[in-house]
Order: sequence, then structure tokens, then C-alpha cells
Amino acid sequence: MTELRFDDRVAIITGAGHGLGRSHALTLAERGAKVVVNDLGGTLDGTGSSAGPAAEVAELITKNGGEAVVSTHDVATPEGAAAIVQTAIDAFGKVDIVVNNAGILRDKSFGKMSVEEFDQVLAVHVRGSFLVTRAAFPHLKEQGYGRIVNTSSPAGLFGNFGQANYSTAKMGLVGLTKTLGIEGARAGIRANAIAPIAWTRMTESLLPAEFEERFTPGRVSALVAYLAHESCETSGEVFSVGAGRIARVFVAEGPGWRQEDHTVEDIRDNWQAIMAEQPYLTPTTLGEQAGASLRAML
Ligand code: NAI
Repeated sequence: MTELRFDDRVAIITGAGHGLGRSHALTLAERGAKVVVNDLGGTLDGTGSSAGPAAEVAELITKNGGEAVVSTHDVATPEGAAAIVQTAIDAFGKVDIVVNNAGILRDKSFGKMSVEEFDQVLAVHVRGSFLVTRAAFPHLKEQGYGRIVNTSSPAGLFGNFGQANYSTAKMGLVGLTKTLGIEGARAGIRANAIAPIAWTRMTESLLPAEFEERFTPGRVSALVAYLAHESCETSGEVFSVGAGRIARVFVAEGPGWRQEDHTVEDIRDNWQAIMAEQPYLTPTTLGEQAGASLRAML
């Protein structure tokens, strides 16, 4: 069996100073990738900053015989995002892989959530992923190759109490991933998202203690590496991953109910058919979805 290697590939991993990002960086570096270890080094809620975490991970990679450089820039500002990509260009001459992983939490029940708590979480997850990808995109397009891995969450895909900001951001990343998959296709750029569960500082107070051993970050990083590899041509998809299990998560539309001139009461009376799941469709573009509605009229 041939090992999947990343020799001569350059990867940017945001939020790589702790938890999942750290593990992704170590995994890719171990397989030959040159890595930009980006981390602002703040607290879980995004306050403060420190060069320590990114530097420690880059040192570990170098000690293990790999190649890494540090970036302590903020993903959530255009200048920070541009500087992260420039770090890759300056150190290694190009960028092939972007893993948008940096994230923060500001959990509050919906009624208590402030505008700032909402905005800050979207800024790091959604704006940050947009900005870093935007800075890398011209390089990827020019070389006709790129792999982008965004970090969604089951909280976004399925909802979670106290995380209106975070779940909005994480579902937003699904939309970004799908459109990047479409727009990057002709230039050899593939974009996918993961919805992980792992024991990190973000989840250690939420998950049962017995999860620590089984939900290791390393059990997420192998999928990230596969999605970041040239042999993976899949694009625009989302995968649940954790504790050794990997599953495709897809957005599906039910078969639907149709009656051209329907009343409000008709909707009430046909609610069961509207809610039906089988046989479902999985459109991969807006066009495919619209086509399904048109076909139902024929
Ligand atoms: P973590 O807190 O250990 O790592 C997040 C890293 O992002 C930190 O090192 C932090 O300093 C960095 N960061 C935060 N804001 C930044 C910014 N503006 N610029 C650059 N770096 C910044 O948390 P964890 O668990 O490793 O999370 C990684 C990603 O995975 C996040 O996007 C998170 O939302 C997502 N995720 C994690 C899950 C889990 O079970 N641990 C579940 C679902 C999603």
C-alpha cells in the first residue's frame, strides 16, 4: 500500500497552536508537508494573544525533522489573512493546502446573546475562513491546484442549545465550502468541510471524561489529510468525524408535494407529504435543485 505523502506541498493550518489544528499540522508535516503554523494564541473566547502556542508546534515539527514556520496573525482581519498567506509564499514559495480551523466560542442562550458575541464568533469562523481562502485563492488558481478544508461542526449542522452564534457560523461554512467546490472545480481546487468531535480545550468541559481517550484530535486529522491530498478529488462535501468514525453528511430535499394553485388549507392537509423524507434528492448545485422543481411540473 502506498503511503499518502505531501512532499513538496505547502499547507497553511489556521488555529494550529492547540487541539485539532495542532494535530492537523503535526500529521501533515509528518507526511512531508511544509507547514505554516498559524495561531493568534488567545483564550477560548478569543481574547488576548500569544506567540507561544504556534511557536511550540512549529518547534516540535522541526525537531521531528519536518519544516514549519510560525504565523501569529489574526485570521479575522484582511491584513492578518493576507500575511498568513504571504508567510507561506515567503518561506516556501507557494501554497497548496488551506485548512481553516481557527475558532472561538462565546456560548450564551439566544435571549442573552449580545450583538458582539454574535459578531465575534462569525468574524473568526466565517470571515476568517473567507479571508484566508480569499488570500490564497489567486495562488491556487494560478497553479491550477488546491485543497481547502473548512471546519464546520455538528452544532451548525444539527443545532445546539446556547450556540446560536457558533451554529450560524458553522452552517455558513457549509455554504462557503459548497460554493468554493463549484467555483474552484475548473482550476483543480477541491473544497470540503469536516464536522468533528474531539477532546480539546474547547470541549473538555462539555464532554464526559471518558471521551478523552477515544475522541483524540488525531482521529480527526487523518480525514483532514486525506481531503488535503491530491488523490482526493471529492469536493463540496461535509463529513462527520470523531473517535474513529467518518460519515458523509449531506443536504437532502424530500420528494415534495405539488399542486400548482394551492391554498393555505391545502398545505395543512398535505403536511405529511411535504415533510416526507423518502425518496430524497441530494442536489449538488442550486441549478440541480431548481431543476427538480421544474421536473415535478412536467
Ligand atoms: P482550540 O481552542 O483548541 O483551537 C482553536 C485554535 O484557534 C486556538 O489555538 C486559538 O488560539 C486559535 N484561534 C482562535 N482565534 C483565532 C484567530 N482569530 N486567528 C488565528 N487563530 C485563532 O479548539 P479546537 O477544538 O481544536 O477547535 C478547532 C476547530 O474545530 C474550531 O473551528 C472549532 O470550532 C472546531 N470544532 C471543534 C470541535 C471539537 O469537538 N473540539 C467540534 C466541532 C468543531
